[in-house]
Amino acid sequence: MVAAIAVSFPKSTLLQNPISFGEPSPNFLGGSLKVLCLNIKPRQHRRDFTNLVVASASPTIATSNGSGRFYFNFTGFPFPLGPFLNRRTIRTEAVKDLIWLFEQEQALGFSSVSTNIRMTVIKLKSGGLWVHAPIAPTDECIQLIKELGAPVEYIVLPTFAYEHKIFVGPFSRKFPRAQVWVAPRQWSWPLNLPLEFFGIFRSKTLKDEDLSTPWADEIEQKILSSPEVGIGPYVEVAFYHKRSRTLLVTDAVIFVPRQPPECISKESLLASAKNGLAVKILSKGKEVPDEPVVDNKTNRQKGWERMVLQILFLGPSNLLEPNASFAQMSQKLIVSPIVKTLVFNKVPEKVRDWVDGISRDWRFKRIIPAHFAAPVNVSRSDFRAAFAFLDELLGERYVTRPSLSLLFTSIMGKAASYFPPDDMRTLSSLDQFLVSVGAVKKTVSGKKRRDSITT
Ligand SMILES: *[C@@H]1O[C@H](CO)[C@@H](O)[C@H](O)[C@H]1NC(C)=O
Ligand SMILES: *[C@@H]1O[C@H](CO)[C@@H](O)[C@H](O)[C@H]1NC(C)=O
Ligand SMILES: *[C@@H]1O[C@H](CO)[C@@H](O)[C@H](O)[C@H]1NC(C)=O
Ligand SMILES: *[C@@H]1O[C@H](CO)[C@@H](O)[C@H](O)[C@H]1NC(C)=O
Ligand SMILES: *[C@@H]1O[C@H](CO)[C@@H](O)[C@H](O)[C@H]1NC(C)=O
Repeated sequence: MVAAIAVSFPKSTLLQNPISFGEPSPNFLGGSLKVLCLNIKPRQHRRDFTNLVVASASPTIATSNGSGRFYFNFTGFPFPLGPFLNRRTIRTEAVKDLIWLFEQEQALGFSSVSTNIRMTVIKLKSGGLWVHAPIAPTDECIQLIKELGAPVEYIVLPTFAYEHKIFVGPFSRKFPRAQVWVAPRQWSWPLNLPLEFFGIFRSKTLKDEDLSTPWADEIEQKILSSPEVGIGPYVEVAFYHKRSRTLLVTDAVIFVPRQPPECISKESLLASAKNGLAVKILSKGKEVPDEPVVDNKTNRQKGWERMVLQILFLGPSNLLEPNASFAQMSQKLIVSPIVKTLVFNKVPEKVRDWVDGISRDWRFKRIIPAHFAAPVNVSRSDFRAAFAFLDELLGERYVTRPSLSLLFTSIMGKAASYFPPDDMRTLSSLDQFLVSVGAVKKTVSGKKRRDSITT
């Protein structure tokens, strides 16, 4: 996901923001940082407006209406992540009295493309809450957590990825007694900023299969920590909640639902259904009707399908009529094409080991990813099938599984990792471009490996 953000905004907004990176003194972090990251409360807290100077770029500050969804973060530094003022939170119970999902809309920059971002909360035997990948701590969100009637004990950041990391600091300040745990090897782009810059202090680092983590007898963890794939390593921690047989991932797999998630606003859906600039650019030559978009089911659905294809492929082949490609990419467990192309294809052994470990040791019956649909009722063979493309890259050398399950996986895998070639074109040429300028590693191919082994 971060790759998508990184490539769609190649020009850092940093240059336009006159921020000085002096010594990271506590004052700098607590003082100037606040200027970047405002959490403005409704009217009565006048004092908070002293920070507004820097935010004057935003003309819409006055639109807060006190619905408890107001959340303002000036930069979303360095890439703006919307929505900028209003974030609705939706809570659902995934497993009775045990697991809850909290979702908000997450827009990419100022575009009309958004997706849902999910925080998962598990109730531990102690009665406390274990919070996975926190989202924006709006009053509404905090209220929904408090309604569970249990203290937050742990806050866990399972990835290096920016759109999850930015909320850990603000979230943990709402629950100062909770311990914060983060995935190892944190880095950020284009500047490798320390965690403190994101407001994350005194965090502990997650370790692979660590039996000494305080929740180890209830929730297990396995870390995928790749070598550098280009701008930095890909790090993601998978968790397994034993009692409910649930696997938690962040960006590794997704299940695109046919219909838009509830938290995505109708305004975003309709904006995306409109034949705007992106559609015109991507429909080279074709005639693009310029009619107004009325609010009806067909148009909301079209908006959703367009968002999905842009998130998955960056430049899908047919944004004008997205329905055919959408049908091929939805309602199945897949690795997102961006993550596959720019990350997993480059480090297939590491990913294979992680996937094998997960499907060998954990008997999960549902997966909760941090985006798109959840919970997804799937088994270990579906999970393996989503990664079947790795077998092709690695060649026979690496095949260690019994042949029957392999056959099954490869049949399912053909379906799971089939992406429409026309839609993949932009992503493949982007990949080639990034390889040619040395920004990402070349994809490892099975054939190539065997050659290099024999020579
Ligand atoms: C405040 O915002 C919410 C969410 O967008 C909206 O439903 C509500 O109508 C707004 N209220 C007022 C008074 O504008
Ligand atoms: C805003 O985002 C920054 C990261 O860019 C983060 O450090 C900060 O804590 C956020 N502020 C709030 C109030 O959410
Ligand atoms: C929705 O509106 C579009 C025009 O924007 C129209 O083509 C379509 O038939 C309408 N769908 C429904 C279900 O009313
Ligand atoms: C997609 O929509 C077009 C017209 O809007 C229709 O002709 C076509 O059959 C649809 N395709 C699928 C796969 O639903
Ligand atoms: C997943 O399984 C649960 C029962 O564990 C069921 O209630 C739910 O409807 C299923 N979800 C889907 C999308 O099939």
